[in-house]
Amino acid sequence: MLETLSIVISVIIYLSIFFLIEYYIFRSYLNWLKKSFLSHRQLFWKNLGFIILILGNLLFIFSMVVTNSNLISISSFSRHLAYLGGFFFSSLLLALIVLCIKDFILIIHRLYRYFIMRTNRVRDIQDLPNQSRRSLLKYGGAASILAISSAPVVSTFMIGDEIQIIKKLISFNNFPKSMNGLTIAQLSDIHAGAYMNLENLTDIFHLVNSLQPNIIVITGDFVDKNTYDLSALSNTFQLLQSDIGVFGCLGNHDHYAGAKDISNMLENSGIKMLNNDGKTLFINNDKISILGVDYEGTKMHPGGYSDIRQALKKVNSDSFKIMLSHNPDFFTTIKKYDIDLTLAGHTHGGQIGFKIGGLNINPAYLAFRYPKGHYIEENKHLYVNVGIGNYGLPIRTIKPEITLLTLSG
Ligand SMILES: [Fe+2]
Repeated sequence: MLETLSIVISVIIYLSIFFLIEYYIFRSYLNWLKKSFLSHRQLFWKNLGFIILILGNLLFIFSMVVTNSNLISISSFSRHLAYLGGFFFSSLLLALIVLCIKDFILIIHRLYRYFIMRTNRVRDIQDLPNQSRRSLLKYGGAASILAISSAPVVSTFMIGDEIQIIKKLISFNNFPKSMNGLTIAQLSDIHAGAYMNLENLTDIFHLVNSLQPNIIVITGDFVDKNTYDLSALSNTFQLLQSDIGVFGCLGNHDHYAGAKDISNMLENSGIKMLNNDGKTLFINNDKISILGVDYEGTKMHPGGYSDIRQALKKVNSDSFKIMLSHNPDFFTTIKKYDIDLTLAGHTHGGQIGFKIGGLNINPAYLAFRYPKGHYIEENKHLYVNVGIGNYGLPIRTIKPEITLLTLSG
């Protein structure tokens, strides 16, 4: 009962915020129409804007329904409709950011005029002749609307669809000499589900195999949510091939979907799941250990299933150690232990991020201490993969990634 009530209240709060944002954007659009068009031309653009808003909302609701369904595959038609809903949502977010920046600058400008110049008259554009002012506002506004509405589409198809293979060489003082050149392919945040179907997975796994890694690791979020067809998923995960083995750790989405079922499904496909577990590998008379912690939780996603000590008990204490941890910020704790390299994911590199001039608008940089890439602290290494799948909507402006790490002494 209490849980249902909290869900209803959360939905009401989210919807209210969403509609307030839409009201703010549409009101700015109407203001722009008033200043840029003669009154008899305004009605057409006002109605068109309203129709686009209604259609966009319907598509967005559809994409949310698809996102929250338990399907592993959807039809190509539904997928494209869901994409449109995602583009609409991303354009709204971008418009919100641009309008907030514009209104903030305007407020500062007015305050400056009022307190410093002792006039509340805003000059510049208002001082231009009527026709020139209207043209400037009209074409400037139209260009901004076009840029904002096309940016998510362009960035998704030109950037978000292209998998980047990041090849990285990391050297350690204590890496076993006989294993110099050992390669590890890292995948993260696959989010198998409606937008990452079996066909997409097959293509990705063939690409990973083509790199011929010695070891493959997957750092959590194998699935987006619970899916009806775990055996089909298991068959697809079996495609991954490496000389030494495939290892994984659980992410928050695997817990939402049912950690036990997901772990069993992956174990059945030959992936060694390291949920607070570890394994020491003896290669060329040297030792290397792969360890993994279960999802440790964050403020946003409570977890608390991790146990580093438990994992360490399972491995040879004087071996070179690699830890798999879904949440990269857990590195602040992991680095205190005798662990040489931590591999993580979870952040998606922000998934949707924009650079406007020198300004990096990316949620990962606000939410995480280690958003993406390679970090070295206290002589311990961390690599954060930006993931290959999507969280929520099928929109990504940060390129999906497969990492190929080469380790050396
Ligand atoms: Fe994820």
